[in-house]
Amino acid sequence: MKLLAANGPNLNLTGLREPQIYGSDTLAMINSELMNRFPDVTFEFFQTNSEGELVDKIQSVERDGFDGVILNAGALSHYSYALRDAIAAIKKPVVEVHLSQVFAREEFRRKSAISEVCKGTVTGFGKFSYFAAAFALSELLLKDPDLRRDKK
Ligand code: DQA
Repeated sequence: MKLLAANGPNLNLTGLREPQIYGSDTLAMINSELMNRFPDVTFEFFQTNSEGELVDKIQSVERDGFDGVILNAGALSHYSYALRDAIAAIKKPVVEVHLSQVFAREEFRRKSAISEVCKGTVTGFGKFSYFAAAFALSELLLKDPDLRRDKK
């Protein structure tokens, strides 16, 4: 099973920026913990601060043989219709992830432009949001390797 763990703008600063909100683990630490916790999953890790690069990466998901995506799109989650359209264009399941509890923060963070086209959302559990997403996605894929975003 091959999963893409993709992170958008400013997630490269995780562990350094606003640790009271996002925690003190770096993205590299979170990624290596993902690998350790899910040894049967082949991960590719990707981070970009650019909307276009993230759209390109999502577009490549099927061509590159990924079974699913764990995506923390950062602030793009709240307003990027380009990212939403890219997720809608692929059939593989994408799980939206946030470190912080976005519903307990500023008003603009309570809206997601991508939730509707994602398989599910995990928010507010710090680094455990990624692990919970990986758990759910890998369990579902074990049962149905051809899992689709819009199939229950
Ligand atoms: C975030 C929440 C977003 O609102 C914010 O813009 C981020 C990180 C999170 O992981 O909690 O960059 O996606």
